[in-house]
Amino acid sequence: MRKICVINQKGGVGKTTTAVNLAAGLSRNDRRVLLIDMDAQGNVAVSLHHEVEKDIYDMLIDNADPGECIRNLAKNFDIIPSKETLTKADALLSKKGNAQFTLSEKMKKVKGYDYIIIDASPSLSILNQNALIYCDEAFIPVPTDYLGYHALKKIMEAIVTINHTFGTSTKITKIIPTLHDKRNKICRESLDKMRNEFYDMLSEPIRVNSKLKEAPKYGKSIFSYDNSSRGAKDYMKLVKSVINDEKGARSVEIAGPARAMAS
Ligand SMILES: Nc1ncnc2c1ncn2[C@@H]1O[C@H](COP(=O)(O)OP(=O)(O)OP(=O)(O)O)[C@@H](O)[C@H]1O
Ligand SMILES: [Mg+2]
Repeated sequence: MRKICVINQKGGVGKTTTAVNLAAGLSRNDRRVLLIDMDAQGNVAVSLHHEVEKDIYDMLIDNADPGECIRNLAKNFDIIPSKETLTKADALLSKKGNAQFTLSEKMKKVKGYDYIIIDASPSLSILNQNALIYCDEAFIPVPTDYLGYHALKKIMEAIVTINHTFGTSTKITKIIPTLHDKRNKICRESLDKMRNEFYDMLSEPIRVNSKLKEAPKYGKSIFSYDNSSRGAKDYMKLVKSVINDEKGARSVEIAGPARAMAS
């Protein structure tokens, strides 16, 4: 089971668009996916036109069972939604001991998925620390512009600090250039800079495409809304590259216990 947090403390960089379409694309490729919304804006449920009943707040704060909060959306595609009550969660969690491990504890019971994908909020909140501690991998969407590059440096440093503080080993396995417009010089320069620096982690860019903006209005992923759009092509390329990495990701999981037994 791969646990992936889609995160960047900068707002409006394409986290939700990436998390929703990655989850939808993986489920269309026969992967069993659970998408968790960890942002009080509740954009996952809004984007997929889902009525929220029990949600991530009930699970983390009111001790609801994960099974009560998981909803099936489509074949192979489940979600745990969120809503605005989640804004209170950081303050309430901070009063608890071991607050950063709440999600990991609750999710121990959740099995049977190939992918768990978390849509994080634009912050470095306790909730996001929970998400990073629970996940093995972080995917970072970054707009190909000057400020995007600076935000990337910041979130990379924050992940190193969290690993160091909590003894975790969350790895950045994909940097995803978003909102890319190749006619724009700054976008081209920024993409080149990222390619030089992060070659092995960098995915193909997601181009600016108005269909990606429209799809949430109809409660659809880009693949259901317009499968021939540039947005669908770019996100399916990302999905395929994530699937292609599965062998490597699995060998990391297997290596852990094997090493422990050998020592
Ligand atoms: N490739 C793209 N082309 C055009 N519009 C896009 C693209 N990616 C995202 N958008 C639009 O940009 C806006 C911000 O995207 P999104 O909500 O995914 O960002 P976010 O990082 O989740 O934001 P927040 O930090 O507020 O959670 C949305 O209106 C979305 O539809
Ligand atoms: Mg979002």
